Amino acid sequence: MEKLEQLYEGKAKKVFKTSEPGKYWIEYKDDATAFNGEKKAQIAGKGRLNNEISTIFLSLLKEKGVHNHFIKKISATEQIVQQVKIIPIEVVVRNIAAGSLAKRLGWEEGKELPQPIVEFYYKDDELGDPFINNDHIGILGLANETELVELREQALKINEILKEFVLNKGIILVDFKLEFGKTPAGDVILADEISPDTCRFWDSETKQKLDKDRFRRDLGNVEEAYQEILSRIGGSVNV
Ligand code: TMP
Repeated sequence: MEKLEQLYEGKAKKVFKTSEPGKYWIEYKDDATAFNGEKKAQIAGKGRLNNEISTIFLSLLKEKGVHNHFIKKISATEQIVQQVKIIPIEVVVRNIAAGSLAKRLGWEEGKELPQPIVEFYYKDDELGDPFINNDHIGILGLANETELVELREQALKINEILKEFVLNKGIILVDFKLEFGKTPAGDVILADEISPDTCRFWDSETKQKLDKDRFRRDLGNVEEAYQEILSRIGGSVNV
């Protein structure tokens, strides 16, 4: 398979066409941004770490019957994925109050939720990815009712699988963001990375943050935290 022209460059990844129809070539970058791109930096090794971490999580989900776009990892920073049409909704699942939820409701960060909360955000950089509900989604025409049920059910299933998997490695899955896409056959499948860029992970004993909040909040040791996640979930220690 050959890598062809670049289709898109996002904040943390590049997407290329390939010589095989229906397949994209993804490259994970070391770039990190926060607060809708306002804060920018390079985190040495992040591309390699997120590629490896995402590969482990997406393969696990596939094994557990959650279809997703991942096909194979082809180099330290690159993957081949199935081509889909991205649904412009960021689906966030939360098990513990943190980040924007803690702020919005005045809840203490770390408060356990009696049941997971699923939230939708409109994926639109210019608007700063605003919070939206089912009615907004319907009027904006982002997804129909059946697709919305599907998004919520898949997100909750993914949460159960990931939460249990990481808890066995001494990690609490606080919250995370997912994106889905539509295949040419019309199926809605997970089509995103799953990494410390897109999840909040806390050490279950010390509650130490092992994710991108270390960058967002200037806590230091960002790369070390990502490396720690990778080694705990069974990836090679020196990526
Ligand atoms: P939030 O608390 O800032 O709304 O973030 C919820 C989760 O979503 C957290 O795990 C980080 C992730 N996230 C992204 O992956 N991309 C984003 O642009 C934002 C704002 C959050």
